[in-house]
Amino acid sequence: MAIQKVGVVGCGLMGSGIAQVCAQAGFTTVVREVSAELVEKGLKGIEKNLARLVEKGTLTEAAKGEVRGRLKGTTSLDDLKDCDLIVEAIIEQLPVKRELFGALDKLCPPETVFASNTSSLTITEIAAATKRPQRFVGLHFFNPVPVMKLVEVVKTISTDPAVYEEMVRFGAKLGKTPVRASDSGGFIVNRLLVPYLLDAIRALEEGVGSVVDIDNSMKLGCGYPMGPFTLLDFVGLDTTYYISQIMFEEFKEKRFAAPPLLKRMVLAGWNGKKSGRGFYDYSDPANPKPIQF
Ligand code: CAA
Ligand code: NAD
Repeated sequence: MAIQKVGVVGCGLMGSGIAQVCAQAGFTTVVREVSAELVEKGLKGIEKNLARLVEKGTLTEAAKGEVRGRLKGTTSLDDLKDCDLIVEAIIEQLPVKRELFGALDKLCPPETVFASNTSSLTITEIAAATKRPQRFVGLHFFNPVPVMKLVEVVKTISTDPAVYEEMVRFGAKLGKTPVRASDSGGFIVNRLLVPYLLDAIRALEEGVGSVVDIDNSMKLGCGYPMGPFTLLDFVGLDTTYYISQIMFEEFKEKRFAAPPLLKRMVLAGWNGKKSGRGFYDYSDPANPKPIQF
């Protein structure tokens, strides 16, 4: 089993980053979005990242051309049918992911390996929509994908050990440090990170501190690169809300429950940085302004 061609489904925050690192690592890569506008938006973001690497001198102009040559955008799932591996990075909703993998299962030959970048769903429940649970893993990347060095490689009780080891090697070929995780909702990182982020919102609701003071406390007091509200906006409040619902449903523990403020912000369309507004207002992206609640 040798992975040569990778399909990525979704070219949003995560899919665009995954497509970029696959193409940079030498894999022929096809990334699929639901509309031509979204394909263009995703590829533009990748182009910008690659141009920044050239500016810094970490990538030559010629190498950038080669990376772009290996990367193709499409709106058609059909263009993914000859991929050796398909990595899904679409909205964190089980029925949507299951429908996608059901369609891919019919389209792709039985050897194709399927992977989900889900943050919180169990891989088993997504893989059950296909006839190839033995060739199904979790590949959980971190935002921003080109920068964050980790990938969680998730094995279910059905995953073929040879497929799993190939996926661990694939993660390393992308320049990531693969960690082995079992198929428990949220895997390793989100089991620990999600309650922390939700607790920050609860602290804000209880008036423990303001958005800026809580952010500064964790940055300056604990050395975190971003405070929790900056990170929540960066991850996406819609995505965080889906994750909390899924993890609460799985564990029935209050620490995973969505705080009412999070729910209201998502209902109001405040999805964080990607929508221009979350715990900060990004009208001037270089100078985000905290929202006064
Ligand atoms: N895409 C590509 N590269 C990016 C980037 C992006 N979106 N954002 C920043 N970078 C690059 C910059 O170009 C810069 O590169 P150089 O050092 O080579 O010049 C480097 O990252 C540092 O960027 P900045 O100096 O602009 O800013 P920074 O020092 O604050 O770093 C950061 C930015 C790397 C994002 C840092 O703030 C950070 O690590 N934040 C925490 C991110 C985090 O916790 N991610 C995990 C989220 S949880 C998750 O992903 C799982 C889930 O399921 C929800
Ligand atoms: P995003 O909002 O940036 O992108 C979501 C994508 O889903 C878009 O490309 C959209 O076109 C697509 N989509 C929506 N409905 C669809 C449908 N019915 N059929 C096909 N595609 C559809 O989200 P994201 O942050 O890139 O998250 C994608 C996945 O990655 C989620 O499973 C999320 O949990 C996971 N993830 C997110 C982060 C993060 O920090 N944002 C980190 C790790 C994993």
